[in-house]
Amino acid sequence: MIKLNITMPTVALHQKYRPKTLAKLVGQPYVQTALTSAIARMHIAPAYLFTGSWGTGKTSTARIFAKSLNCLSFNGPTDEPCGTCQSCRSIETSNSLDVSEIDAASNNGVDDARALVERSSLAPVQGRYRIFLIDESHMLTQQSQNALLKCIEEPPPHVVFILCTTEVHKVLPTIVSRCQVFHFRALSIQTIAQHLQEVADAETIAVEDEALMAIARFAEGGLRDALQLLGQVTLLGEAVIANHVVEMTGGVTETDLMAVLNAIATNDTFQLLKLSRTLVDSGKTPKLILSSLLQTYRDLLILKSAPKASDLLTSPVNYNPLKAITSH
Ligand SMILES: Nc1ncnc2c1ncn2[C@@H]1O[C@H](COP(=O)(O)OP(=O)(O)OP(=O)(O)O)[C@@H](O)[C@H]1O
Ligand SMILES: [Mg+2]
Ligand SMILES: [Zn+2]
Repeated sequence: MIKLNITMPTVALHQKYRPKTLAKLVGQPYVQTALTSAIARMHIAPAYLFTGSWGTGKTSTARIFAKSLNCLSFNGPTDEPCGTCQSCRSIETSNSLDVSEIDAASNNGVDDARALVERSSLAPVQGRYRIFLIDESHMLTQQSQNALLKCIEEPPPHVVFILCTTEVHKVLPTIVSRCQVFHFRALSIQTIAQHLQEVADAETIAVEDEALMAIARFAEGGLRDALQLLGQVTLLGEAVIANHVVEMTGGVTETDLMAVLNAIATNDTFQLLKLSRTLVDSGKTPKLILSSLLQTYRDLLILKSAPKASDLLTSPVNYNPLKAITSH
């Protein structure tokens, strides 16, 4: 008999670990403190603009803030939205009557903006505020931004706009100047690695420290990319090591880089040519090989002059093997 093995679809790590309260936001202390205290003091601005590089928490924070303003389990806005009341749940599933999440990438026309302005005059149905969360707001056409301008400047008292964008320079300066602007920073390698460790522990994923650092370096400051990559390397079904990460991201592995460095250090031209051939044949472009080497030599220089500054290293080669080369 054929046995059907039906498993539940798994939720991607970055979705599963989307922060639900401001306190859970990682690496954005300024945003966290300012928004928490705005709620505590009831200083709610008519318009917010969240800007910063991808995967740093803008959309998550916008949703948390909307829940904070409208959570029904409290008598007023709270920095700890319950997540279970009808308002919180409907915001989570994008079904809220009071919180309209608009993806500006697909609703960028002037008619969309006018419809939004019309809706803003309606009183909230269930919560305290009518909130317009305009994601990717740099995609709005100039015309539609102009249509929104007046409304953002003087919205009805129950309306809050939250604009999110990675490209603030494409948002009209007149709009930007009417918003409270929050800059979401790219997260440091250390912060990302630490968060990945917490997720790995919660998911009982076996992953070595060096692999976490490799993922954190590759993510370039974004947590979404980092979590996605962690999820991907765990599919290899073994304890995750740094080489898996580098292979998965198409980079040159530590083992290969070490072999090249050793061939150069020992003047072994023949070995160097052989290694280069193998690397190129395995699909690594000369440009990639050279830039990885450059990164490693930069790290070597750092290690020579500041032997303890391991947090400044950026290449796929880890501290101990690099240290061994500096003593050649
Ligand atoms: N500061 C953060 N704290 C905790 N988790 C984060 C943070 N930033 C990003 N994440 C993780 O990455 C996922 C995506 O984050 P989010 O959608 O908020 O990023 P974004 O800044 O809106 O990115 P984009 O510019 O690409 O739209 C979240 O579900 C969460 O798992
Ligand atoms: Mg976003
Ligand atoms: Zn709630």
